[in-house]
Amino acid sequence: MSTTAAARVQGRPGCARWWQAPPVDYSVSDRLEGINWVAVRQDLAEDDFDNGRTPDALRRSFQASAHVAVARAGERVIGLARLLSDGVCNAYLVDVWTASSHRRQGVARVMVGDLARRVPGQHIGLQVDSEEGRRLYHSLGFRPQPEFMSVVVGAWLDNDANR
Ligand SMILES: CC(C)(COP(=O)(O)OP(=O)(O)OC[C@H]1O[C@@H](n2cnc3c(N)ncnc32)[C@H](O)[C@@H]1OP(=O)(O)O)[C@@H](O)C(=O)NCCC(=O)NCCS
Repeated sequence: MSTTAAARVQGRPGCARWWQAPPVDYSVSDRLEGINWVAVRQDLAEDDFDNGRTPDALRRSFQASAHVAVARAGERVIGLARLLSDGVCNAYLVDVWTASSHRRQGVARVMVGDLARRVPGQHIGLQVDSEEGRRLYHSLGFRPQPEFMSVVVGAWLDNDANR
């Protein structure tokens, strides 16, 4: 896979939040190669965003997705997002996460924007269960849709991918 997007954010005087956070320099791409999924899972757990997948199951989730966005600061993965899509009309956004050390620096905005650009003309759905997620998606133009319904088939993660 080739790199599809790059972002550079530098703290600088005159920028409203330059004094609140250290300058960050990160890149966003669709490159899954070289990811240490054990470290990613640990970072997700430390941010209380681990939903029970093993490192290998996490890798499989991303590899099987239509589109992925990976934010890196050096070698460290500091953000992830992925999109399921039929390539025609419907897409579903999942696993959007920015490491707590790098939040409010535009990482998720760049990742979600990068994914959205890859599915022009498609309807993107998602489920949100955090206030910061709600604010993020609202800022990007997502609006609530009534009567979203879901079901887990059997027991959560009880399948071959997780054994
Ligand atoms: C939600 C999350 C992905 C946002 O990541 P992020 O990289 O910090 O978001 P960004 O810096 O790109 O924010 C873009 C915009 O979203 C809104 N936003 C994001 N986090 C916000 C917060 N905590 N409070 C208020 N607004 C917020 C703002 O409008 C922000 O723009 P601004 O900083 O110029 O005001 C991150 O907080 C996270 O990983 N949370 C835990 C996992 C999660 O809830 N994921 C969502 C899936 S349901």
